[in-house]
Amino acid sequence: MTEMVWTEVDHYITEQLVRPDPALDAALAAGAAAGMPAINVAPNQGKLLQLLAMARGARRILEIGTLAGYSTIWLARALPEDGRLVTLEYQPLHAQVARSNIAAAGLADRVEVRVGAALEILPQLARERYGPFDLTFIDADKEHNADYFRWALQLSGVGSLIVVDNVVRNGAVIDPRSDSRAQGSRKLFELMAAESRVSATAVQTVGTKGYDGFVLAMVTS
Ligand code: SAH
Ligand code: DHB
Ligand code: MG
Repeated sequence: MTEMVWTEVDHYITEQLVRPDPALDAALAAGAAAGMPAINVAPNQGKLLQLLAMARGARRILEIGTLAGYSTIWLARALPEDGRLVTLEYQPLHAQVARSNIAAAGLADRVEVRVGAALEILPQLARERYGPFDLTFIDADKEHNADYFRWALQLSGVGSLIVVDNVVRNGAVIDPRSDSRAQGSRKLFELMAAESRVSATAVQTVGTKGYDGFVLAMVTS
């Protein structure tokens, strides 16, 4: 099977099941126009995030890694009117483009973009008692995935979901000598394996984003 088939099947799935959304398309276009990398989730993955948030009945969502706000918009659309999403972004330019995309999607009242290193903002959120978050989506620098997972757990309640993107990386996750980002995945798996408060799995994915995978964890106690 070639990457071409994965891509065509992703397009087929998206044409069949993912309704076109001008705000989401505009968010991608604005990111590209600003020179940002096209490392957003695919449309069918964004919809999966939204369905998970809806299935959980999420009222509070945390996202780590905003980019242009594409996954943010998918997730925020799952919120009720009084729901809140906070998304953390290190690059001021990314945050600025994301804020404008989120406002254009009509979600400015529900979404807060916080600028800075996530490992500095997460303790602030804890001090502010911003959580507990019903769903956390971790999708920033992969080296820190275990740290982000630890914080997500601390900011969660029983029944909360934690989703982590890009944990397979073309299979590099099983190579103990892989690059630092795949090492970040391995540290995350070791942490989850030893953590009795979560029930977790991971699923490999192929598609327009190549060969990768995501973790889904539920806080059980
Ligand atoms: N979730 C987005 C894609 C995020 S790409 C989507 O699917 O649409 C990863 C983002 O994480 C980039 O914008 C990058 O600037 C940001 N990032 C990298 N390191 C970070 C850090 N330490 N703290 C917060 N954000 C970070
Ligand atoms: C990269 C980051 C992502 O979040 C992603 O989904 C794909 C690629 C990257 O940094 O290369
Ligand atoms: Mg990602």
